[in-house]
Amino acid sequence: KKVVLAYSGGLDTSIILKWLQTEFGCEVVTFTADLGQGEELGPARDKALQLGIKEENIFIDDLREDFVRDYVFPMFRANTVYEGVYLLGTSIARPLISKRQIEIAEMVGADAVCHGATGKGNDQVRFELGYYALNPDIRVIAPWRDWEFKSRTHLLEFAEKHGIPVPMDKRGEAPFSVDANMLHTSSEGKALEDPGEVAPEFVFQRTVSPEEAPDTPEEITVGFERGDAVSINGETLSPASLLTKLNELGRKHGIGRLDLLENRFVGMKSRGIYETPGGTILLAAHRGIEQITLDRGAAHLKDELMPRYAELIYNGFWWSPEREMLQAAIDASQGMVTGEVRLKLYKGHVHLLARTSPYSLYSEAHVTFEDDAGAYDQKDAEGFIKLNALRLRLLASRDKKAGRN
Ligand code: ARG
Ligand code: SIN
Repeated sequence: KKVVLAYSGGLDTSIILKWLQTEFGCEVVTFTADLGQGEELGPARDKALQLGIKEENIFIDDLREDFVRDYVFPMFRANTVYEGVYLLGTSIARPLISKRQIEIAEMVGADAVCHGATGKGNDQVRFELGYYALNPDIRVIAPWRDWEFKSRTHLLEFAEKHGIPVPMDKRGEAPFSVDANMLHTSSEGKALEDPGEVAPEFVFQRTVSPEEAPDTPEEITVGFERGDAVSINGETLSPASLLTKLNELGRKHGIGRLDLLENRFVGMKSRGIYETPGGTILLAAHRGIEQITLDRGAAHLKDELMPRYAELIYNGFWWSPEREMLQAAIDASQGMVTGEVRLKLYKGHVHLLARTSPYSLYSEAHVTFEDDAGAYDQKDAEGFIKLNALRLRLLASRDKKAGRN
């Protein structure tokens, strides 16, 4: 029996690793994804080796470009936000991790996969819906739902007993739980559990506070092709390098901080602190280029579909026919979403300054307050308004006759 574990190299997944070996007596294969979380992955390898994992059973993959190109960008084509504000930084990473884990399971002939998400959250659902969608016969092990440890103290005792090093700062209660990748960093739990308390400043890890941001604004130009960002200030960049660059700009100007009390799929509410510096700039830029290139009907339909699409991603249904149908509709709108957007970054805000496109639908000839040289006949508007008013007038005269206001 073999199991592929989604392994971060941290304390919790190291304990899980040991637990799989001792409790199940199975051969453990570790998979560590580089999604741009900004941590060295060398230590994850060393730690796995230390815990007795064979070299050939350690998989460390740089998935940064795949992540941004195939998950982040498709999601941003829809201007996706959950519950009005959350840019889904954790949610969108899970389908890729699931997919790679299932691929590795097939490669090494493992019959099970394992993750370190708790039984209370969204992530367990996202990982497992992904696993089952990609391999209907896979066995799933979710230690947090299964093991007998009732407290952090028990966990740490188990770690000590099995020679898993426990860093000094992890000996007490962990201050909060963090999930990070190239799109965002999220913090939940512990010190943040009372939503009536203001989150302490030290929770923020990848943005300066807007108050500390530079007093001089910075202007940038983001170039788009077919709905995806391709350049910054005229320099063509790969998806991952582009997002990295936007993250640097966002960090510096204190952009993309969010404190949200959200509805988890399992039914409870939870409070999260999010930092999505580059993503926040990208969303504003994409909306800007759509303003000038998208037809009103297409744009408004996209906005109607977006909350459904966001909910599918949040709830873990990336690998579902309905997500793929929505994606096809969204992608079909993006063929002409090409051009440049000029933005100003200043103390926590992204201001849209200007947009241009070779496929612009904007017609100055039509909209001008000056002489339009016959482009638009204002008299046409009279009949347009009369017919639109027809049923309103019929209603009003009926009500007048009936003596109601
Ligand atoms: N609430 C966010 C989501 O469901 C983040 C979850 C993971 N975050 C964490 N700190 N463990 O997408
Ligand atoms: C977890 O419970 O493992 C993290 C939070 C979540 O999945 O919502």
